[in-house]
Amino acid sequence: MTETLTIRRPDDWHLHLRDGAMLHGVLPESARHFARAIIMPNLVPPVVTGAEAAAYRERILAALPADMAFTPLMTLYLTEETDPDDVARAHADGIVTAVKLYPAGATTNSASGVRDFDKVRGVLERMAEIGLPLCVHGEVTDPEVDIFDREAVFIDRVFDPIRRATPGLRVVMEHITTAQGVDYVRSADSDLGATITTHHLIINRNDILVGGIKPHYYCLPVAKREEHRLALRQAATSGDVRFFLGTDSAPHVDALKEHACGCAGCFTATNTMSILAEVFEQDGALDRLEGFTALHGPAFYGLPPNEARVTLTKGPPLTYPEKIETGAGPVTVFDPMMPLHWRVD
Ligand code: NCD
Ligand code: ZN
Repeated sequence: MTETLTIRRPDDWHLHLRDGAMLHGVLPESARHFARAIIMPNLVPPVVTGAEAAAYRERILAALPADMAFTPLMTLYLTEETDPDDVARAHADGIVTAVKLYPAGATTNSASGVRDFDKVRGVLERMAEIGLPLCVHGEVTDPEVDIFDREAVFIDRVFDPIRRATPGLRVVMEHITTAQGVDYVRSADSDLGATITTHHLIINRNDILVGGIKPHYYCLPVAKREEHRLALRQAATSGDVRFFLGTDSAPHVDALKEHACGCAGCFTATNTMSILAEVFEQDGALDRLEGFTALHGPAFYGLPPNEARVTLTKGPPLTYPEKIETGAGPVTVFDPMMPLHWRVD
């Protein structure tokens, strides 16, 4: 007997597509399964203005193979110089779906991020007024704080104060990696949601470090202890509408991952849906896969869920490429360290 599961076409609420040759190489990997994605603005230089977001959207659509349907939902990179009027205009014109806050220096290409949170207060207040969500990379950058504690410290020092100071602001805590992140989201009101990546449901910090350093498992926020992975899995498979998929699929060419100072990012676009089906099946929650990947995200963003459906079929272990070739160089696909049985049609 074949086992199948039909769900609404999923969306990815946190995706890095890059630009140029890399964009051309990785875009089909997401567009194959996902209808829409929130596109991260951390290009070099970053996507800061409405005009830049509109131009980037055009480049993405131009790179899309003619037989694929995919809607990029654009974001602006928040800087201390961001003009509230430009943000409001880009929102009113339907160019942007969210604004992204990177604490300066927290991650890849975040040097133009925010150092002094008081300087972005005007933009955040405007966003609360017009109902434009803020996506937050939730890690402090204080060198005194241990890298494994940076998310938990951010919640107390920065995130909770920002939310209290800006009532009505809708906020997504991006790629949560800790039990503290899960608890904070659960304790909050309806204006807070969180994305969870595919890889943080699979790896803990041992997978990065035991038996030799594994650069393809290094990402930011870095994977934490096993107890945190289990808390994330529980949250993702619980059916709680505040948690939804944001893969944070973040391609870097192998030469820059397998390096003395390797880049952060796991590339999961290719096999994300098969991995998630395996995870939800293992946790007895296949009936909640649709909520996590196709319903909770649109509900948070106030968008309709996709009408199209995809069918997942269980069969013998799948084969998928170990790397994808892009014009920028090869990119290694995330290895979930287990056979995958669910094919997406
Ligand atoms: C992202 C990237 O490569 O742009 N890397 C990552 O490890 N997730 C940046 C980010 O989202 O933090
Ligand atoms: Zn990211």
